[in-house]
Amino acid sequence: MKIALIGSNGQIGTDILKYFTEKNEEVIGLTQDDIDVCYLEKCESVLFKVKPDIIINTAAFHVVDLCEDEAASAFAVNADGVKNLCAVCLNLDIPLVHFSTDFVFGLDRDRTTPYTENDCPGPVSMYGISKLAGEFVIRYMLKKYYLLRVCGLYGHAGSFGKGSNFVELMLKLVKESSGIKVVNDQITTPTSTKDVTRKLYELIKTGKHGTYHMTNTGQCSWYEFALEIFRLSGLSPKVIPISSAEFGAKAKRPFYSVLDNANLRSIGLKDMRCWKEALQDYIKERP
Ligand SMILES: NC(=O)c1ccc[n+]([C@@H]2O[C@H](COP(=O)([O-])OP(=O)(O)OC[C@H]3O[C@@H](n4cnc5c(N)ncnc54)[C@H](OP(=O)(O)O)[C@@H]3O)[C@@H](O)[C@H]2O)c1
Repeated sequence: MKIALIGSNGQIGTDILKYFTEKNEEVIGLTQDDIDVCYLEKCESVLFKVKPDIIINTAAFHVVDLCEDEAASAFAVNADGVKNLCAVCLNLDIPLVHFSTDFVFGLDRDRTTPYTENDCPGPVSMYGISKLAGEFVIRYMLKKYYLLRVCGLYGHAGSFGKGSNFVELMLKLVKESSGIKVVNDQITTPTSTKDVTRKLYELIKTGKHGTYHMTNTGQCSWYEFALEIFRLSGLSPKVIPISSAEFGAKAKRPFYSVLDNANLRSIGLKDMRCWKEALQDYIKERP
């Protein structure tokens, strides 16, 4: 398989590049210096030259609060950029792998059970809206795609877009003597980019296109996630649970956005391991 990997220096892109190469796949890593998904001509000139068998797109404008003020930039990357890649895929008759998010949900404020791929999305932020637009573009333009909804990603490369990831941020804040305030009313599933990478590899090998939720299993609030990070690191700072309202972020987030990986199970792929187990490995492997 010859793979064009867009965002190869990003958090999940770094893991995909490493793992797929170890699996003897030919991966052409493309950074934003090589290709900007916002420009169709650039996408065509780069990707027609590479002639990949599949494109994996990890590029996103995903600083959630910034998307509220810079919606045009969010749509440029998360929807228009996706349209450009779809056009290339159509031309080359190849599938697109694209990453979406649990933030396409959230409108159902009373939700307490995991969302399946059949649940109707309803975002509560410009970021979520722009990512959902990208999803619709893919379904409108392509027949061959793997549309993956992931959530709460952390990987050793750290998120380029966000500057870090939640685990590293918590460990950086450990010396905060007045206590670390963490939101306790948003329930999610922290998910290891390493685990998503392995599951993505399995999925591509099945050749079964479609929309898939792809997360570790279990659920917790960001506060509970923080407690587990410190427990596994042998640290015991003061951690203070607060509400989303107290935190006061610019963009709204879903109160509950746990994703049931129902479609992966339906094609015979096993559930990913529990988030706590994955986190334990991440903490052990930290440089
Ligand atoms: N991080 C999370 O918690 C999370 C949760 C749910 C869903 N997701 C989704 O998962 C995907 C991967 O996230 P991540 O954490 O790996 O992100 P990341 O570390 O920020 O990586 C994104 C990569 O895309 C590149 N990029 C950004 N804009 C681009 C453009 N216009 N053209 C080409 N490349 C561009 C970035 O390059 P530069 O570094 O040069 O800007 C970076 O290498 C995204 O689609 C995101 O929406 C992430």
